[in-house]
Amino acid sequence: MRIGLIGTGRIGAFHAETIVGLPAVSHVVIHDANPRLGRTVADKLGADFAEDLDGLLGSGLDGLVIAAPTFAHADLIRAGVQAGVPTFCEKPVAGDLAETRAVLADIAGSDVPLHIGFQRRFDRGYQVLREAVADGRLGWLHTLRACTSDPAPPHPDYLPTSGGIFRDCAVHDYDIVRWVTGREVTEVYATGSQRGADFFAAADDVSTGVTLLTLDDGTLATCTATRYNGAGYDVRLEVCGSEGTMVAGLTDEVPLVSAEGAPWPSAAPHPGFMERFRYAYTAELTAFTEVAAGTRPSPCTGADALAAVLVAEAADRSLRSGRPVKIAEVAE
Ligand SMILES: NC(=O)c1ccc[n+]([C@@H]2O[C@H](COP(=O)([O-])OP(=O)(O)OC[C@H]3O[C@@H](n4cnc5c(N)ncnc54)[C@H](O)[C@@H]3O)[C@@H](O)[C@H]2O)c1
Repeated sequence: MRIGLIGTGRIGAFHAETIVGLPAVSHVVIHDANPRLGRTVADKLGADFAEDLDGLLGSGLDGLVIAAPTFAHADLIRAGVQAGVPTFCEKPVAGDLAETRAVLADIAGSDVPLHIGFQRRFDRGYQVLREAVADGRLGWLHTLRACTSDPAPPHPDYLPTSGGIFRDCAVHDYDIVRWVTGREVTEVYATGSQRGADFFAAADDVSTGVTLLTLDDGTLATCTATRYNGAGYDVRLEVCGSEGTMVAGLTDEVPLVSAEGAPWPSAAPHPGFMERFRYAYTAELTAFTEVAAGTRPSPCTGADALAAVLVAEAADRSLRSGRPVKIAEVAE
């Protein structure tokens, strides 16, 4: 199978290494708007390099992986799908809701699959949570507590392109809350703070954001996201029900210290998302090769991505207005 990869920055270079190691993949063709960077990654991995998008799409691809910045996603998804190439795109589909809707409308009539990169769906802990909710082991759910904590802010240049903490970080929690529970979010209340570097205010973003979600069966979920978790990278989801509570991400690497001196957890924290979700990214891209081969449907469609973006949009609107926002209001 011949896979094209667009973008060899932080996540793209990491995906490139994963893709060349996948059993289904025999050839990889790389393109980056920065040819020096793209060529370096291609040469290191023994992949081909395409100077431009047309050259990449014309090289006989079986699948396309988009890891360019968010602002480029919509046009690249259009290009991939319209060229008839099964397309994987890193989250999110686009930088804002209008563009997300526009690109999904443009490709709506196509039977070329689109797979959006919400990799937590391939993390074993989240998969076990979903199974436990589905088989009733936890009883009826009352509360979910999701957390996405980065150890340190990204490069200041990244922030204005990110869409803000709700669209960039917490959107993973919004997606996984929907996926684990099988429920839809109906209302969002959000707040945030700008402590830390000045560049958060300059980018019109917050460095810590908290979202309270109401699900359509009355379950409540809190999602906390921060760029300043000095203890280490921390991504967890607690699902609390009438019969039991289960948590994903409470492993030996969780960056917590017991105030009572309990000796657990004891391992060094994961430094970042690549280490925490290494297995999930490999499983996700393996699944994409199956999508591209036509042996499974997309495990995370454009409609799934839109549902998570609607929650992020409502969170952003709530932060700015100081009031709870119904999903129906942003979905109009
Ligand atoms: N799923 C996850 O856990 C996860 C983690 C990190 C990033 N992401 C997503 O991945 C995307 C990329 O993030 P990043 O941190 O790697 O960004 P980055 O800025 O580090 O890298 C982007 C790369 O794309 C190249 N590029 C820019 N415009 C291009 C274009 N039009 N065509 C081809 N190449 C182009 C740049 O030269 C750069 O090398 C973002 O949308 C982000 O939301 C997802």
